[in-house]
Amino acid sequence: MIQKLFSYLIPVKIFKKKSARSKVIEVTWANGELVLDSENTNYSYGSLQRILRYGLRNIGYDAILKMDHILLLGVAGGSVIKTLVDEIKYKGKITGVEIDSDMIQIANQYFNLNQIKQLEIIIDDAFEFVLKTKEKYNLIIIDIFEDINMPNFLFERFFSERICYLLQDQGFVLFNTMILDEAHNVRNRKYIAEIDSKLFTSKMLPRIEVHNELIIIEKVA
Ligand SMILES: C[S@@+](CC[C@H](N)C(=O)[O-])C[C@H]1O[C@@H](n2cnc3c(N)ncnc32)[C@H](O)[C@@H]1O
Repeated sequence: MIQKLFSYLIPVKIFKKKSARSKVIEVTWANGELVLDSENTNYSYGSLQRILRYGLRNIGYDAILKMDHILLLGVAGGSVIKTLVDEIKYKGKITGVEIDSDMIQIANQYFNLNQIKQLEIIIDDAFEFVLKTKEKYNLIIIDIFEDINMPNFLFERFFSERICYLLQDQGFVLFNTMILDEAHNVRNRKYIAEIDSKLFTSKMLPRIEVHNELIIIEKVA
């Protein structure tokens, strides 16, 4: 509690781990809130949670409450899961795919992720999982970062077509991206242009929290 109060003055680091996959993972009290950070950016809670909450609000909490199965690619501390379960009161199933098992151990220890009954965690590469899965989803949240980098596969046509194929009718994709230079801007616009506009509508929610841009795709047919 003292650490939490003190964190309103300066951030208080309470845990740091070198992980093979993610280099450095830190858990910090910042402004009275426990957050999870990688070396150079916030991974969970804090601004990351606000960004995804903004995207979910744009999709609509009423639409989300009617959903049966949500797929989350990139779990880290699981802040969007807390938004879905604690704030929106979503009752359906959530499947979370995370490549770094250290991350899930920290999520369980510091953020009680293992107490969420409707959540299934799969330790796997999101790319591999998306190829293997036999399910279809009402919402697919893509939130994959290696520190401040986004792996190239996320923007390849093969991957975006597979993601769109895995949507139920009237399903949504919520894709969190980071824009640090003009090349990233071009990359995002190309991504949107490649989505089949006969079957899907897509839009961008630009420049959230300075560097993030959300892409929302909806299956209309
Ligand atoms: C910004 S964090 C996710 C935050 C989370 N969505 C939340 O709401 O708190 C990004 C995560 O993507 C994971 N990641 C990176 N590459 C991945 C991959 N190929 N497959 C699955 N997860 C990956 C990282 O280990 C990291 O935990």
